[in-house]
Amino acid sequence: MSGERPTLTVSKIRMGTVIDHIPAGRALAVLRVLRISGAEGLRVAILMNVESRKLGRKDIVKIEGKVLSADEVNAIALIAPQATINIVEDFKVVKKFRVEIPDTVIGVLKCPNPTCISNKEREPIVPRFRALSKNPPALQCVYCGTIVGPDEIVRLVLDHVASSS
Ligand code: CTP
Ligand code: ZN
Repeated sequence: MSGERPTLTVSKIRMGTVIDHIPAGRALAVLRVLRISGAEGLRVAILMNVESRKLGRKDIVKIEGKVLSADEVNAIALIAPQATINIVEDFKVVKKFRVEIPDTVIGVLKCPNPTCISNKEREPIVPRFRALSKNPPALQCVYCGTIVGPDEIVRLVLDHVASSS
């Protein structure tokens, strides 16, 4: 094997989901969005900062026995816009798709503007954003017009997970 780069190999999964092409360093954020801590007992493999032809470096998360909901896929799209979801059955990839940020993002993150009507406690309104751009992501609050970019989106999505657990 001389001349080849060393590779970090993790076993294949039998049934479940592989989230591939996660931006390097974001795997733990993806797990947080899925509310996976290890305590629930799922078998999970995490690869961080491994070689990727497309991205240079990437993270991968493999979750045995897990099927993602549409809301979970939409939340992953916000923090890992280029991620690929692979559904595995009987050791084979039976379905593969790219995540996509929906045109309207509902309830996954709060508006950072404290005076926004969606942040008034008296009349709770579900936060709602329009996708101005999907890769890199930019979202605009439909209530106050505030625009948030990629890094702030990650932070706000993680804040929302932490506050609603
Ligand atoms: N995988 C896995 N267990 C399986 C099948 C696949 O963990 N039983 C993982 C692979 O290790 C890889 C991802 O799922 O990280 C996608 O698998 P596959 O489609 O076979 O790989 P590629 O063709 O390299 O994927 P892509 O073209 O999307 O980069
Ligand atoms: Zn707002």
